[in-house]
Amino acid sequence: AVERTLSIIKPDATKRNLTGKIVSKFEDAGLRVVASKRIHLSPAQAGAFYAEHKERPFYGELVEFMGSEPVVVQVLEGENAIAKNREVMGATDPAQADAGTIRKDFALSKGENSVHGSDSPESAAREIAFFFSGLELVG
Ligand code: CMP
Repeated sequence: AVERTLSIIKPDATKRNLTGKIVSKFEDAGLRVVASKRIHLSPAQAGAFYAEHKERPFYGELVEFMGSEPVVVQVLEGENAIAKNREVMGATDPAQADAGTIRKDFALSKGENSVHGSDSPESAAREIAFFFSGLELVG
């Protein structure tokens, strides 16, 4: 089925000017950018976005990192977009990521791993609504 998923190009990647290269990998895989904006998250916004990880030991570090530099938030649309986006990103830990994936090619560590993607239809719906209004989604 055609799905939508929320993608974030993280601070380590925007800082190294990798936005275009990352978007190309999504587009080459058949995903379409139907919404896009560059924003600088406040600590409160980053904390709210990652609220489900609040009890994890890396939560403080994650929130600080996500607010450290601008990010590019996008909605990607396509056949099986949620799984496809995760395939193109590769494993969370770049050391475990397959060749040719974004994280293999660009990520610095498990934390500074260049991209975020929704992990289920439920989180995609929540995460898209967190950043975008319906009017901003242009299919
Ligand atoms: P993301 O898909 O954005 O969702 C949660 C994030 O937590 C994850 O990507 C990683 O960047 C980050 N994360 C996961 N494990 C660790 C870890 N051990 N240390 C720091 N950050 C982590």
